[in-house]
Amino acid sequence: MPIRRTSSLSSTGIPIAAGTIVALSLLWAFWPITTFSFTSPTRTVSFSTGVNNLNIFSGDGATIGDHGFNLTHDPPEPTFYDDPDLTYTIDKPIKNWDEKRREWLWLHPSFIPGLQNRVMLVTGSQFNPCPNPIGDHLLLRFFKNKVDYCRIHGYDIFYNNVLLNPKMFTYWAKIPSVQAAMLAHPEAEWIWWADADAVFTDMDFKLPLQRYKSHNFVVHGWPELIYEKKSWTGLNAGVFLIRNSQWALDFMDVWSGMGPQTPNYEKWGEILRETCKDKTVPESDDQTGLVYLLLKEKEKWGDKIYVEDRYYFEGYWKEIVGKLENITERYNGVEKGERRLRRRHAEKVRGYSALWEEYLEGEGWRRPFMTHFTGCQPCSGTHNELYSRQSCLDAMEKALNFADNQVLRSYGFVHSSLGDSGSVLPLPFDYPA
Ligand SMILES: *[C@@H]1O[C@H](CO)[C@@H](O)[C@H](O)[C@H]1NC(C)=O
Ligand SMILES: *[C@@H]1O[C@H](CO)[C@@H](O)[C@H](O)[C@H]1NC(C)=O
Repeated sequence: MPIRRTSSLSSTGIPIAAGTIVALSLLWAFWPITTFSFTSPTRTVSFSTGVNNLNIFSGDGATIGDHGFNLTHDPPEPTFYDDPDLTYTIDKPIKNWDEKRREWLWLHPSFIPGLQNRVMLVTGSQFNPCPNPIGDHLLLRFFKNKVDYCRIHGYDIFYNNVLLNPKMFTYWAKIPSVQAAMLAHPEAEWIWWADADAVFTDMDFKLPLQRYKSHNFVVHGWPELIYEKKSWTGLNAGVFLIRNSQWALDFMDVWSGMGPQTPNYEKWGEILRETCKDKTVPESDDQTGLVYLLLKEKEKWGDKIYVEDRYYFEGYWKEIVGKLENITERYNGVEKGERRLRRRHAEKVRGYSALWEEYLEGEGWRRPFMTHFTGCQPCSGTHNELYSRQSCLDAMEKALNFADNQVLRSYGFVHSSLGDSGSVLPLPFDYPA
């Protein structure tokens, strides 16, 4: 949006007047105009802004957020929040959520524009310090990575580090977190769960939500491994997208019915081992539970579950990390030949990722969207026997720095190498020409 500003100085150097707004474009005339000003020691600057649904700065301070939400508006009409029988805990099923959510939205109309594409990321970790001496540091870096992605894409993020249901530990803890997030965020259409140890390794890529428009749950997996091999690794439950809906609440109710908070936990362990012969952990786990629901209750849930295998919705780190240097060079190679791709721009300006598409379409070397450190357990420091602690650590650093380079680019810096977390170099103008 164009911003006009004028400044003036008095003879004493003290600001005296706000500038006048000169020309208004035709477009501007359609919207109410708000003027505000701030003073610096040397001048008074005044801005005018149009008020519309995309970007509003209101005269009354911070009541209107970046997205045009009216953050102070909460009319007296009762909503589900006023119902004493409705609980955030998973032990008591919620009914008619779609109607309840719709009514809330109707009373809070500023949240309606853009609703269909509104995603909220939910992640988290344990409540106590990590046993691994560098575990908390790694979790911080993993979280920073998610905050970066969410800032860039305008998504909200919630980090939960308490067990909302004390019996639902480790991988089961996400279900109560996701349910609570749905109630806390009726304005979010999708809740996106991502394990703490999953890293965004393509900061530009956006979820193809259009592809999921008639689905309620998206998970990374391979239909053949699920339906033919009946493998518990036919999908990965560490990252999923779930639509804020009654369907989701019903689904999570059934899914969590296999969890440690139920009297049937042990029995489910047996059933799941029986169903997926390659299952290694003896206890009932959420991932095998999901495979089970796809196998045994396909008619009930299957048509709303999208098993994504066309990109790295989340990807196994072992398969990815060795390629990151190569991918960096490929991207740099394309930029060397295309001036428009390497033009410097503000971080908020996102048109460049769309420009990239024509170069990436069908290319096997597109940045993997999410890299998941399955089996590395950064917080506990224990890890799968298949790899050494050092190989996990080196791989995590590489993936985090690979992602960080994409962020730092907008700030004018780059890591000196993917293995070097500690130092950066300033980027020369027109890099990487
Ligand atoms: C936001 O809501 C408050 C309270 O309902 C209302 O007074 C105000 O006019 C609203 N602001 C906008 C920009 O709609
Ligand atoms: C990247 O890998 C491909 C093969 O996968 C290879 O042909 C290419 O030379 C590599 N590029 C670089 C810059 O290492």
